[in-house]
Amino acid sequence: MLWLHDFSLFGGLLLLLVSTTLVESTLVPRHATIVDRDTVQSNYTFIIAGGGVAGLTIADRLTEDPSVSVLVIEAGPFDAGIDGILVPGAYAPYYYFWPNLVTVPQAGLNNRSISTICAQVVGGGSTINAMVFLRGVVEDYNGWGLLGNSGWSWNNMLPYFMKSENFTKPSASLAKTANISWDDTVRGHSGPVQYSYPNYFYPASANWWNAAKSVGLQPVKDPNAGSNPGIFWIPSVLNATTMTRSYARRNHYDRVIASRPNYHVLASNSVSKVLFGGTQAIGVNYLPTAGGNISSVYASKEVILAAGALHTPQILQLSGIGPKKLLNKFGIPLVVDLPGVGQNLQDQSTLTIPYNFSANLFPNSGSMLSNATYNAEQLALYQAHQPSAYTIVSTLSTNIGQLALQDATSAYKQIAAQARARNPADSLPADVDPTVLKGYVAQRNLTIQQFESANVAVGTLHWDTADSALIYHLHPLSRGSVNINSTDPLANPLIDYRTLTDPTDAQLYTALFRKQRQLFLAPSMQVLGPVEAAPFGAQLTTDDQLVAVMRNQIDPSNAHQCCTAAMLPRELGGVVCSDQKVYGVKGLRVADISFWPMETSGAPTATMYAAGERLADVIKKEYCLAGAC
Ligand SMILES: *[C@@H]1O[C@H](CO)[C@@H](O)[C@H](O)[C@H]1NC(C)=O
Ligand SMILES: *[C@@H]1O[C@H](CO)[C@@H](O)[C@H](O)[C@H]1NC(C)=O
Ligand SMILES: *[C@@H]1O[C@H](CO)[C@@H](O)[C@H](O)[C@H]1NC(C)=O
Ligand SMILES: *[C@@H]1O[C@H](CO)[C@@H](O)[C@H](O)[C@H]1NC(C)=O
Ligand SMILES: *[C@@H]1O[C@H](CO)[C@@H](O)[C@H](O)[C@H]1NC(C)=O
Ligand SMILES: *[C@@H]1O[C@H](CO)[C@@H](O)[C@H](O)[C@H]1NC(C)=O
Ligand SMILES: *[C@@H]1O[C@H](CO)[C@@H](O)[C@H](O)[C@H]1NC(C)=O
Ligand SMILES: *[C@@H]1O[C@H](CO)[C@@H](O)[C@H](O)[C@H]1NC(C)=O
Ligand SMILES: *[C@@H]1O[C@H](CO)[C@@H](O)[C@H](O)[C@H]1NC(C)=O
Ligand SMILES: *[C@@H]1O[C@H](CO)[C@@H](O)[C@H](O)[C@H]1NC(C)=O
Repeated sequence: MLWLHDFSLFGGLLLLLVSTTLVESTLVPRHATIVDRDTVQSNYTFIIAGGGVAGLTIADRLTEDPSVSVLVIEAGPFDAGIDGILVPGAYAPYYYFWPNLVTVPQAGLNNRSISTICAQVVGGGSTINAMVFLRGVVEDYNGWGLLGNSGWSWNNMLPYFMKSENFTKPSASLAKTANISWDDTVRGHSGPVQYSYPNYFYPASANWWNAAKSVGLQPVKDPNAGSNPGIFWIPSVLNATTMTRSYARRNHYDRVIASRPNYHVLASNSVSKVLFGGTQAIGVNYLPTAGGNISSVYASKEVILAAGALHTPQILQLSGIGPKKLLNKFGIPLVVDLPGVGQNLQDQSTLTIPYNFSANLFPNSGSMLSNATYNAEQLALYQAHQPSAYTIVSTLSTNIGQLALQDATSAYKQIAAQARARNPADSLPADVDPTVLKGYVAQRNLTIQQFESANVAVGTLHWDTADSALIYHLHPLSRGSVNINSTDPLANPLIDYRTLTDPTDAQLYTALFRKQRQLFLAPSMQVLGPVEAAPFGAQLTTDDQLVAVMRNQIDPSNAHQCCTAAMLPRELGGVVCSDQKVYGVKGLRVADISFWPMETSGAPTATMYAAGERLADVIKKEYCLAGAC
């Protein structure tokens, strides 16, 4: 997987060079507003549990009003400004992964228990992700609306996408030779999140591009304009001046902090529980993530959960909000019986297909790892602000394909019909709550319609230009869960993705796999001499053979976990309503990706910045903050 390469060969060298000459130092602590357990106030206007994309975006926007005070409590530390975070080509963010997260045995993946990734650092996923800045499509956000959430649609989201970001064009000559295109009217130019493109590409990425065209995938003018099936350069969340990562810690904390004495961040502490006065959320308990005593801090207006799709449901359950049976099992006093908390877990699972090449082109993304001379040349170019492979996230290439199901297979209508004919209850655990089942039926209905749409990508194809082709599965029908396994707030929850438990998901994977094979059989890839390698290989021809290998190969997560405190009507197993308030209590919202009802045809980051902007506006209006009324 793209996370797991060994960077130790060049790591020491890079750390030295980068920290002295490449990027401005970001050593911490340095701001009065980084609070510790002794300096934290006893109360704030808002308390935010989790300092990721949603948490920091909302904290930034709410503290624009000087009468408001905000405390963000983040389980992880401030990052130390290492090149593994900041420099795309030195990508090695694993220091900031949540420790020891492992799934329960995955029934659809030969009972493998698989290590899984989420961030534990200020900035959350934006600090550790592969910098892909890709919105979903029109149908994604309209679909959230159709599920019963008023005020949710593409048209409602577009102004927030634009507000959140500042797009910097690539040079005209690069755009022309590299086939980079965009529609400036849908791209923001004055927001805090900086994004652009790498300024370099590996030559064989053109072979992939031309092969993709020859098998029917067409260039997309702008994948962030509401439709993305086709091929395009991956927009990358980087500051185009320095070619370094633009992440939430930089763009929603460092950027504003000099003028915000009312914006506090307590790092390396974990929220263990929401405190209630009756049904009003009045504060939280927290403790050092490394272990220690529990403290309390109080919120006069709201507690906002932004701890991510694996930990927000854990906090809710520990606080007495969740499935009654689960809470009873652990002796947790019930505040609200909300059966949907921790259910509806989705991710965008990935499949790596190894290839050998007899005539690949030099350089390719593998050269950065295998050829120290080339790596040193590229590093020198990067330092001199010249076009360099160091502007590309290590082990990735620059272009991808997004495929609607009809782009992958002409049998898409049969696949949709078969999915429709299946009893949805057969795709969920036998003891599923009836409201959660109803919510799944509605989601399934919508997702199957999307299988018939030319505008909704169900999968992504990528070739790293070296030895791996990748498939990402975007819209699963399988559903998993995250449930506490202990009342210890520092114990990991039970994570069960249930990947590939729905048979339609396996059909989508084989369709995408066959399209990927077809692409590699096109003449402009064949000149490179690709050979599909073990555990796959040309000898595997039937769907059953392919699926058997996939069950051993698929990674259930791309760290895009979502949807475990879903925004849905309560009678559909929902946890929050359309303004993201938790049902049954007051003063408590869910801001992070847990609130999504379903995955999108994009990568999460762009949508989470926009959703953070949107929720900040909703809250400002509700309390007349920062001149909102
Ligand atoms: C809030 O904190 C301030 C300063 O720490 C303190 O003076 C005030 O009494 C507190 N208010 C409440 C309601 O706890
Ligand atoms: C996975 O484990 C379950 C429960 O132990 C068992 O019934 C099933 O046969 C196992 N599946 C495989 C593929 O080993
Ligand atoms: C947007 O990016 C441009 C060029 O990279 C930069 O000059 C400008 O200051 C940025 N604007 C904002 C608001 O960040
Ligand atoms: C860009 O597109 C042109 C025309 O289709 C093609 O000849 C060229 O190889 C492509 N280059 C890259 C880098 O994709
Ligand atoms: C880009 O990064 C540099 C160095 O951190 C910073 O000075 C500059 O303000 C950033 N540009 C934008 C537009 O944020
Ligand atoms: C935890 O609280 C106890 C009792 O107040 C105290 O004796 C102990 O020193 C505290 N531990 C830490 C690590 O602060
Ligand atoms: C390694 O990189 C150098 C510098 O770009 C290049 O001249 C050389 O051919 C490369 N070696 C291999 C084996 O590709
Ligand atoms: C399926 O979705 C369509 C379109 O959103 C809607 O009209 C229909 O009522 C839905 N059917 C079910 C069973 O939810
Ligand atoms: C769940 O809790 C049980 C009992 O404490 C323990 O044995 C088991 O290892 C835990 N499972 C996980 C995945 O943490
Ligand atoms: C691919 O290359 C590896 C390493 O050189 C080799 O062991 C393997 O047999 C090759 N596989 C195929 C299918 O050529």
